[in-house]
Amino acid sequence: MTTTAASPWQPDTWRQRPARQMPTYPDPAPLDAACAQLRQFPPLIFAGEVQALRAQLAEVAAGRAFLLQGGDCAESFDTLDGNAARETFRVMLQMAVVLTYAAARPVVKVGRIAGQYAKPRSADTETQGGVTLPSYRGDIVNGAGFTAAERAPDPARMLRAYSASAATLNLLRALAQGGFADLNQLHAWTTDFVRASPQGQRYAELAERIGESLAFMAAMGFNSSNTPQLREVSFHTSHEALLLPYEEALTRHVDHGLLGSAGGAPGWYATSAHMLWLGERTRQLDGAHIEYLRGIANPVGVKVGPTATPDEVLALLDALDPAREPGRVVLITRMGAGKLAERLPPLLAAVRDAGWPAIWSCDPMHGNTVSTAGGVKTRDFANIVQEVREFFAAHAQAGTVAGGLHVELTGQDVTECRGGGQNLTDERLAERYTTACDPRLNGSQSLELAFLVADLLKAGRRPGGESADKSSPPPAR
Ligand code: PEP
Ligand code: CO
Repeated sequence: MTTTAASPWQPDTWRQRPARQMPTYPDPAPLDAACAQLRQFPPLIFAGEVQALRAQLAEVAAGRAFLLQGGDCAESFDTLDGNAARETFRVMLQMAVVLTYAAARPVVKVGRIAGQYAKPRSADTETQGGVTLPSYRGDIVNGAGFTAAERAPDPARMLRAYSASAATLNLLRALAQGGFADLNQLHAWTTDFVRASPQGQRYAELAERIGESLAFMAAMGFNSSNTPQLREVSFHTSHEALLLPYEEALTRHVDHGLLGSAGGAPGWYATSAHMLWLGERTRQLDGAHIEYLRGIANPVGVKVGPTATPDEVLALLDALDPAREPGRVVLITRMGAGKLAERLPPLLAAVRDAGWPAIWSCDPMHGNTVSTAGGVKTRDFANIVQEVREFFAAHAQAGTVAGGLHVELTGQDVTECRGGGQNLTDERLAERYTTACDPRLNGSQSLELAFLVADLLKAGRRPGGESADKSSPPPAR
């Protein structure tokens, strides 16, 4: 049986389908208790925000805005002091400024943050020194430490994930609206280690030019006190929809009266984040994860790996977006440098010819993971760059929109991916390798990638071709 738009949907109909990558909780009672508790908690987001994001993503689908989605591979309960979240937010602001300036298009900012706690794994178990334990599946499921106690799935962790998400979201809202994101603070977003890098210098020059424009605008009477677009940013949250009991418990029916000014239809909303996506390992058409995702009103993403066929992608779109609504689905390609140039074009042609307004976004991370000789998981910056270039070239060729970038990053000075302007070598990876899962770009590498994408977007800019519709209200920054 495959998922069809015609079959009735409820937040729990996923339970009738095979579910991959989910922990086996030994005892149903504490699981039910945790879910009952979650059902009593307030939603983390408001449905009107979801509709606002969908409207922004519709602009991305039309080629009038660009999507930037980024953050940790996995967030961790141990780094809840706010520094990690602030640094992710800070580097995304910097990247967005670089992209907006070059492309002259708004950048829709979506963090992999405030809920990115569940991880799919390639093996169910891990063996160290002759001892075999369940794999670490993210802090919402079990602990990373290699002990039987840590690795036992514990449903009470779902309550901690909810609290941690709420705390992080609260900080993000404060940073987005409280003055930190004010465009006049552009220089202050650069951390010391980035300032010293070539990207830091290029950014400082850009900040200088934008500063001159801001001074001009201030002289014309537009400043942070009277122009919210200068003072505040719009920032949304996302995570992989993997742990379905958690998502189900936070799914709420929203009636007309509770949608706010952004409008939209009444219906079921996932309230754990604004946007949810499915990973490469859980996108089976007859599976539980697709079944859950198809019924919620949020924008949804699906990872599309190198083995995906045109028919598979069209079937995914049919299941998730039967009404063909712009801003509903983001296809996140993650094929690997070298493979993408060959595998993506047939998919682009199929979706284009079938007329679906899906957004294509490029994840140049997950198809480029390798191990060093010493067994450390890393990614080569050069491969990341190559996959991004191939993505833009494929879209230029197909006449489709290269709509977004999806990256694992942190603003912090970590040493997890090789290469880049800092030329990080295998020997140096151990210096500050702190990720809870996959290797992330650091602040300097993130900015370097943003400048590259900015150049690609600028090259693709058609004079007069894709500016925002003058009749629509100005987009949120
Ligand atoms: C991820 O985004 O962290 C991830 C696991 O991706 P994928 O499903 O594409 O492997
Ligand atoms: Co990852």
